[in-house]
Amino acid sequence: MPHPYVLLSAAVSLDGYLDDTGPERLLLSSPADFDRVDEVRASVDAILIGAGTVRADNPRLLVNSPERRAARTAAGLPEYPLKVTVSGSGDLDPAARFWHTGGEKILYTTDKGAERARALGLATEATDAADATDVVPLGADLDWRRLLTHLHDVRGVRRLMVEGGGLIHTQLLTQGLADELQLVLAPIFVGDPEAPRLFGPGGYQSGRLRLLETRRIEDVVLMRYEPTAPGTGPLPAAADHHWLALACELAAQCPPSDTAFSVGAVVVAADGTELARGHSREGGDPLVHAEEAALAKLDPAGPGLAGATVYSSLEPCARRASRPAPCARLILDAGVRRVVTAWREPDTFVAGADGSGVLAAGGVEVLVLPEHEERAKAPNRHLLRRR
Ligand SMILES: NC(=O)c1ccc[n+]([C@@H]2O[C@H](COP(=O)([O-])OP(=O)(O)OC[C@H]3O[C@@H](n4cnc5c(N)ncnc54)[C@H](OP(=O)(O)O)[C@@H]3O)[C@@H](O)[C@H]2O)c1
Ligand SMILES: [Zn+2]
Repeated sequence: MPHPYVLLSAAVSLDGYLDDTGPERLLLSSPADFDRVDEVRASVDAILIGAGTVRADNPRLLVNSPERRAARTAAGLPEYPLKVTVSGSGDLDPAARFWHTGGEKILYTTDKGAERARALGLATEATDAADATDVVPLGADLDWRRLLTHLHDVRGVRRLMVEGGGLIHTQLLTQGLADELQLVLAPIFVGDPEAPRLFGPGGYQSGRLRLLETRRIEDVVLMRYEPTAPGTGPLPAAADHHWLALACELAAQCPPSDTAFSVGAVVVAADGTELARGHSREGGDPLVHAEEAALAKLDPAGPGLAGATVYSSLEPCARRASRPAPCARLILDAGVRRVVTAWREPDTFVAGADGSGVLAAGGVEVLVLPEHEERAKAPNRHLLRRR
């Protein structure tokens, strides 16, 4: 039963609340963090919220940045991620903004809930003015595994961002279905026991979470965690997926070219700190490669590179005419011992390129995560078609 990569995202008060009990939504995040959330939204295939959040916050759930939307479209993705909500009752306001903004929507519900939702007119066909809303009944009860399998198999969702509320987060975490948790801690106390909590009671299967990253964003702190299952070791390397997805997103932002690939790269220290990022043709240099641009920002004598991982949307090159050293060589020279990539270099520009072979021969572990291949290829489709 393949599932999408599930990323839980929430902002929380110092005393663990998601909101207060007032009629307006409590703003916990800071402006720069809202922009970070926008960036994460732009990087996923679908965004899910619970019916409680649709009712309480009436959110639009859009990618707000026109540049990020344009990059999605240029990469062959829908302008907006699929919007998903979950309701047992099917009792949702047909006038809620959720239904009338962004692209396609889907409501997962029970058999009974589907009757109610259809009676309310929530299921709609696509028209010129609006995208379709699909109502999907999952049986007498709502089963998260069935829901995730449906998203993966029927809707092609590979990365799912879950934006709450607490009931949803609690179920996904207690059922061992979350791959990553992105938590923003806001310097606010709510202090009202009636307010919704981020996590409720339950049999958590997440063990002691592994800390992937901390980041100060204005006055809030972002913490990224990877749940680990007791006894089974870490779940599939969430950090690798996160950073490779970011590399693929950087690839989509490269200035277009008919003579070179669009590639993104991120160098990450062993403790999960981002050291540098780069993309093809960065800074107006028509020849620079992504890995080269990222490594050039680092002090070669600096600590940390030996334990670092280079995430590159395309396998590092083994041969190139434009510079003395190919990226595989630059990576070896930097002392990096681990590379994660989404696809192997095709013969478009260089026959028989084998960056992975060069790296492996130099003692570097190379991991290919094919789940990201489509996204990595997207900004290069015009180069692949021509052959
Ligand atoms: N700070 C943040 O980052 C953030 C983010 C999101 C939300 N929030 C806050 O969180 C609050 C809402 O959270 P919440 O916990 O009340 O609601 P929620 O988690 O958004 O939604 C709960 C609803 O989802 C449906 N549902 C969830 N699991 C189900 C299951 N297994 N089977 C059937 N239905 C299921 C039910 O809908 P039906 O009742 O229709 O059956 C349930 O009432 C709001 O105050 C909002 O402001 C904060
Ligand atoms: Zn290269």
